Amino acid sequence: MSRIDRREFLKRGGALLAASSLPLSLVDVAFGKTSEQNFTFAYISDSHLTHLKGREFVRNWDRGLIRAIAEANLMDPRPDFIFYGGDIAQLGKPEEIDHGLELLGALRGDVHYVMGEHDYYLDLGEHWRKRLGPDHYSFDHKGVHFVVLNSIKTFNDWTHNRWPSGAERMHQMARLDNPQGSPFMVGEQQRAWLKDDLDKISKDTPLVVMSHSPLQKIYKGWNFWTEDAEQVQALLKPFKKVNVLYGHVHQIQTNQIGNISFNAAMATAWPWPYPATYKQQASYLPKLTVNMNRADPFFERDATGWQFINLHTGRVDVNYLLPGNQNRVVAWDDRAGHPADTQFQDTANRIPPQTHY
Ligand SMILES: [Fe+2]
Ligand SMILES: [Fe+2]
Repeated sequence: MSRIDRREFLKRGGALLAASSLPLSLVDVAFGKTSEQNFTFAYISDSHLTHLKGREFVRNWDRGLIRAIAEANLMDPRPDFIFYGGDIAQLGKPEEIDHGLELLGALRGDVHYVMGEHDYYLDLGEHWRKRLGPDHYSFDHKGVHFVVLNSIKTFNDWTHNRWPSGAERMHQMARLDNPQGSPFMVGEQQRAWLKDDLDKISKDTPLVVMSHSPLQKIYKGWNFWTEDAEQVQALLKPFKKVNVLYGHVHQIQTNQIGNISFNAAMATAWPWPYPATYKQQASYLPKLTVNMNRADPFFERDATGWQFINLHTGRVDVNYLLPGNQNRVVAWDDRAGHPADTQFQDTANRIPPQTHY
């Protein structure tokens, strides 16, 4: 066997993995092909680590996160940082959050965290904030302004007066198709904070807004929804380039509303079906979304994954990396003026679900 140095090995390993399958998403932020400001970040979301007893956790969910971390660590070039998109935990238990942070501690690079409803509704985010700090914040990176919101709050009455315990409240919010649930929202206080934060930023600055629930209304029955989405969108409207990235929906979704591009992240835990398949209730699945070719019920990791993201001239290209399925790229299409699936946006190219098996 010929000898190769460690760097070369990692490089080859990275190329090999990128060519085959990776369970996360990479986000590319480029300012032109030769600019030193181009950058990428990795995006891992929705691991739903589930505590059983003692040191035991549901193995399958652990495996999805462990794989995403291992592959993110092999990436070359290195992503500038990593986003974790929320729902580390399944039932918000301190054991689950601590276990997730122990696993995520193996990531090489800085990690920024977004709050998910599964991290929040047991103790209203107390343990999460104790470990990770504020649930909404902003920072600047290479000319891009990043904003993180906690978008999974809801009406005070539902939160404080409805349930006998935090555990019961968490169980109710953890159910997908639950008429006892309550719509998510950013809320007045955070919207005021956001307005203040954005007032200081030049309107030419590209924005990347990270939330857990979509900051658009897709499907209320499953809480693929943010009640005050329009008010948040109005605050983003003055900016020329706005990218909203969200988790929660466990599937690829793409949309363009005015100046705002929306892209969803896959989960490392499990995929949700597309709400369009549930015809009994209104679904507002964005038209630009090309459904994933999926899912093999006998393969526990199908239609799960992670992302890496290129920020291209202040616009986001999302590279979806799926173990056991074809990788996908949803990139900004300058001519069309919205993000598009680079391979399957054209209906003639689409692969009907399941034909790959
Ligand atoms: Fe989730
Ligand atoms: Fe969620």
